Amino acid sequence: MVVTSRAALAALDDADPLAPCRARFALPDGVIYLDGNSLGALPKAAAERAAHVVGQEWGEGLIRSWNQADWINLPRRVAAKIAPLIGARPDEVIVADSTSINLYKLLAAALRLKPDRPVIVTEVDNFPTDLYVAEGLVRWLDAPFELRAVERNALGAALDDRVAVLTLTEIDYRTGERHDMAALTRAAHEKGALVLWDLSHSAGALPIDLEAVEADFAVGCGYKYLNGGPGAPAFLYAARRWHKTIEPVIAGWMGHATPFAFGTDYVPAEGIGRFLTGTPSVIALSLLDTALDAFNGIDLRALRAKSIALTETFIALVEERCSGHGLVLASPREAPSRGSQVAFRHEQGYQMMQALIARGVIGDFRAPDLMRFGFAPLYVRFADVFDAVEALATILETGEWREPRFARLATVT
Ligand SMILES: Cc1ncc(COP(=O)(O)O)c(C=O)c1O
Repeated sequence: MVVTSRAALAALDDADPLAPCRARFALPDGVIYLDGNSLGALPKAAAERAAHVVGQEWGEGLIRSWNQADWINLPRRVAAKIAPLIGARPDEVIVADSTSINLYKLLAAALRLKPDRPVIVTEVDNFPTDLYVAEGLVRWLDAPFELRAVERNALGAALDDRVAVLTLTEIDYRTGERHDMAALTRAAHEKGALVLWDLSHSAGALPIDLEAVEADFAVGCGYKYLNGGPGAPAFLYAARRWHKTIEPVIAGWMGHATPFAFGTDYVPAEGIGRFLTGTPSVIALSLLDTALDAFNGIDLRALRAKSIALTETFIALVEERCSGHGLVLASPREAPSRGSQVAFRHEQGYQMMQALIARGVIGDFRAPDLMRFGFAPLYVRFADVFDAVEALATILETGEWREPRFARLATVT
């Protein structure tokens, strides 16, 4: 039975063991932020760290900070904080570049590990960059390499002995629908294929156990539930069993075994470090480093329980308060199949979302018709869910969303 009265929801906030985490974030007054699945909120400590890195480490320390502030090891130090969130060992993760670039690096490496298998399998509704990167790679390599992009329910049938790697996003960026990582990884392995998971909408939202599911590779964004800031560096995971044989497609100097020996021959670093390419993005890595401290002491099972309760409450309230306006749930109704976001479909969803944002309830829109709402359990409250749905009900009942100003299409939706 889902609780839907504001008083009862406020009581849930009072009893919520995660409620104190909200104070770790700088959230503007009058805003209900339901877009942490796209860009996480600003951790207060990250703003302080930024001032320190720029003013002290860079301003005063200058080049000495590579050693004195240990800038050089930031990709590994930040990775060690992400590792427990994804069920990895610290030496299996590195933080560098963007998710798109890390996808390319790992797909190329996976094809090299399976030289007699030319096929990459993915889902036709995967996030565009996941599709573009895989498509671009096979085009670059030319025939017989092939990208096999199939419907979600055809993934099992698409796996055969020509497949080198199955690459999927665990949680669908539009609907929040969740794949069964363990079952799909097992199915791919049974056919002799490797598996690469995109955890962009999973990391920091729910527990992930890459080791238990025996995943080979993974990538994910640093700026969504990990709150590293716009364009934060991404993470890359490779299971230890591949470290000795995996070849980096970009042989950059930071992935060299001894970059400061300045040798003319490329010798890859031992282990995951070979996936570094160029000079680490120190300011961005420092922000992500501090942002991850917001997860200190957090029980990921409690995080998931709250995420499920928030999304269930939202679905129940929207269906109760906004019925008759043509909104259709696009996310799975069953909690285990859903990530930490909920999408409702409506032909005029864009205008409705703009009207909501004007009222301080921030979600986003994904073409052609999805209003998307993310529930970052570290800082979204149950009372926020109630107030957000009240605002949605008001703009629907008054028809406020029909105002022409809400139809203007922004560059970023
Ligand atoms: C599932 C998924 N993968 C990859 C990306 C893109 O990552 P990046 O811009 O860091 O390359 C996104 C961005 O939203 C995403 O949702």
